[in-house]
Order: sequence, then C-alpha cells, then structure tokens
Amino acid sequence: MKKIFAMLLASVMLFSLTACSGTNTAGGAESTGTPQSSSTAEGTDTPGESQETALSETTESSLPYESEDMQAANGDTQAANEETQTASGETQTASGETQAANEETQAVNEDTRAANEETPTAEEKSGGTNILIAYFSRAGENYNVGVIEKGNTEVIAEMIAGQTGGALFHIETVTPYPEDYRECTNVAQQELQNNARPELTATVDRFDDYDVVFLGYPNWWGDMPMAVYTFLESYDFAGKTIVPFATHEGSGLASTENSIAAACSGAEVLDGLAVRGSVAQNSREEARGAVVNWLREAGFAD
Ligand SMILES: Cc1cc2nc3c(=O)[nH]c(=O)nc-3n(C[C@H](O)[C@H](O)[C@H](O)COP(=O)(O)O)c2cc1C
Repeated sequence: MKKIFAMLLASVMLFSLTACSGTNTAGGAESTGTPQSSSTAEGTDTPGESQETALSETTESSLPYESEDMQAANGDTQAANEETQTASGETQTASGETQAANEETQAVNEDTRAANEETPTAEEKSGGTNILIAYFSRAGENYNVGVIEKGNTEVIAEMIAGQTGGALFHIETVTPYPEDYRECTNVAQQELQNNARPELTATVDRFDDYDVVFLGYPNWWGDMPMAVYTFLESYDFAGKTIVPFATHEGSGLASTENSIAAACSGAEVLDGLAVRGSVAQNSREEARGAVVNWLREAGFAD
C-alpha cells in the first residue's frame, strides 16, 4: 500500500514538473507515453472509439431505418405530392373541361339564338300571303249533325285562317254532290272504287306564291274525297309544306297523310289535325282550342 502511495506521489510530482516546463502536452504525452499509459490510453480510448463507432454504427444502422421510414415518409410525401400534382392537374383539366363545356354551351346558345333568328315567327308566317288554306267541305245533310249550311271542314278552315291570316280556297266540283247523306255516300263510294278525278270549278291564283298549304277534307270511306286528289294533282307542290286537317266521325286522318305525301313529291307533309265533324259544327270553342294548340305545336300560332 505504502509502495503504491509512493509511486502515486512520485507521479504527481513528475506531472507537476512537466506542466511547469511548458512543453507541448500532446507531444509530451505521446513522447512520454508509456506502452502502459498508451495502452491505458488506448484502453480508455477504445470504449470512446467504440462509443463513436457504436454511435456511428447506431447512427448508420439507425439511418437506414430512419431512411426507410423517411423514404417511406418521403415516398408518402412524394406520392401525396404527386397526388396533389395529379389532383391539381385534374383540377386544371377539370377547369379546362369546364371552360370547354362553357364554350360549348356558349356556342349552343349562339346557335339557338341564330336558329331563333332564322326561324320565322308565326307573325311572319301568317303576315304575308304565303299561306293557303285549301279545303273540301260539303253542306247539306251529314252524319250526326243533320242538315248544315256550312260544312264541318269549312268551319275548321275558317278557324285556321283566323289564326294564321292565310288565304281560303274552297275545292268544289263542277258536279255537286247530293244533299242527301245516304245518296252522297253512294256517289262517293263509286268514285273511290273508280279512282275518279272529278273536275273542279276553279284553280288557285298565283299558286307558286304560297309556301305553306293547309289542306282540309272530310274523311270519306276512310280516305279523302276524290276531288282532293284532283286538286293535289293539279299543282306542283315540290318545296312546299303541306299541313293536313280532317273532320270525321271516328276514322280520324286514317292514312291520308301518306296519301298526300305520295301524291305530292318533293313536299314536306306535317302532322295533321283530326277533329270530329260534330264537334266542329256544334262545339266551336272545343274545336277552336284543338286548332290553336295544334297550330302552336307546329309553330303557326303564338
Ligand atoms: C260520303 C261520306 C262518307 C263518309 N265516310 C266516313 C268514314 O269513312 N269515316 C268517318 O269517320 N266519317 C265518315 N263520314 C263522315 C264525315 O267524315 C264527317 O261528317 C265530316 O265531318 C264531313 O265534313 P264536311 O261537313 O266538311 O263535308 C262520311 C261522310 C260522308 C258524306
């Protein structure tokens, strides 16, 4: 014990002398470093180094995890960024699409406006002399209405004229039809079977001036009176618009719209109106309502 103490005391004294001499510490340490002290130093340094190594290893070893986590996080961030970018790209695309849609809507509106400007108004259609209302109608005894002074179809024709301002033309045969209902049906049936073309009393003045021809007739034996065929075959309807209307007692228009189209090549035949003869004759307001609605749908009345 005493020996150790003496050694320690000697070391302290030696250390004090060295310090006082002012020589460089490190060099002195290195130069004075004994293998023991060196080894001691190495020994004491080793844990330090190892700590550094450990730290560095820890750092290095932990970095990959951190890195992976970070990478993962960064990846997430990147993905999120990409998504954001995609989203903003999509938003941009969406705004682009919205803009395109708005432009299309604007174009459609402009087309509609242009179309509206091109489509003549009912006033323009009826204001001129371009509408003809040609009709066949027979007064006398008729089905369901007794003896009438004005034919059912004529009643409707006058309503159309009142709405459109068109010119009326009565299709009449040189040989009148019997006033008696039953006799008339017999004559009409005969003409139908013979595909007759009864002669008419008059022609339309300046027919070419009309663009629209309302064509009225009673349903006779599921067809038009043969006098109406005579009328259709007397003119060139190419480029004209034909608007059929018929009175009847149950058969409606039948296939008369097709027959008109077949007889008038090059003409446009619009959807026709069918009104019961007894309604036209005895329920005028009801008939007028049907006429006005139909004219409105076809664009001939406001
Ligand atoms: C000769 C003749 C044939 C007729 N055939 C039919 C017919 O097949 N189907 C029908 O629903 N009405 C028929 N009717 C009834 C008329 O179509 C109906 O009374 C019509 O409104 C008459 O029109 P008008 O008064 O303008 O001549 C016929 C009437 C007559 C005089």
